Amino acid sequence: MRLFDSHCHLDDERFDEDRAETIARTRAGGVGRCVCVGSDLPSSRRCIALAEAHDFIYAAAGVHPHEAKDAPADYLDQLKEMLSHPRVVALGEIGLDYYYDFSPRDIQKRVMNEQIDLALETDMPVIFHIRDAHGDMFDLLRARGSRLPAAVIHCCSASAEMVREYLKMGFYISFGGPITFKNAATPIEASRAVPLDRLLIETDSPYLAPVPLRGRRNEPANVRYVLEKQAEIHGVDPETLADMTFRNACALYRIPV
Ligand code: NI
Repeated sequence: MRLFDSHCHLDDERFDEDRAETIARTRAGGVGRCVCVGSDLPSSRRCIALAEAHDFIYAAAGVHPHEAKDAPADYLDQLKEMLSHPRVVALGEIGLDYYYDFSPRDIQKRVMNEQIDLALETDMPVIFHIRDAHGDMFDLLRARGSRLPAAVIHCCSASAEMVREYLKMGFYISFGGPITFKNAATPIEASRAVPLDRLLIETDSPYLAPVPLRGRRNEPANVRYVLEKQAEIHGVDPETLADMTFRNACALYRIPV
């Protein structure tokens, strides 16, 4: 069984003490590939360095809504250069987060829109982080008409109805640890709305450890708990779903299977 953790943060400082051991456990845990996702320019560079050092790790570069307010004036030029790196497979994570509102909403919207324009210009798939902001997200996407990038809604918190709208836009949908939580009725219903050829699995590690490890530091090897839960939700065997989600991630990120 080969797993693809479509979204992790192995560059995070919480792995500074034991990153090599964590990466070894990732491989031993059957994770054949993972994408290390940037949240600002420095973390995007760290993700690229990890991807240069490990052939099964790929990188994404982007500015997260939390960090949008601190993006330097030339951030788009810096990102554009990173996107041309052969180990960078996506622009992300970018989006809107009205739950924390760490950046003013007008800045979140501007920085996301500028990065979507960059994704279209460079023909890169996008990793979206959207929390408590799906209404504005749909407004901004619909204003673009049919000119949308390939994309994934990561750690999806949307309702089934909203998920169907994202699917119409051609997006992939990814779920992580929260799908295993006790109060997971909404993500489970949303997941059922996703056809198996559009579903991805992820950890978002070090965040959001799945049950039975909830509350602990998460790591990519734990993506198997997400896989098992999704296999149960969709009524397929885990091996089949591992293969499908692996292929889906390769299709989104344009990596040969
Ligand atoms: Ni993330």
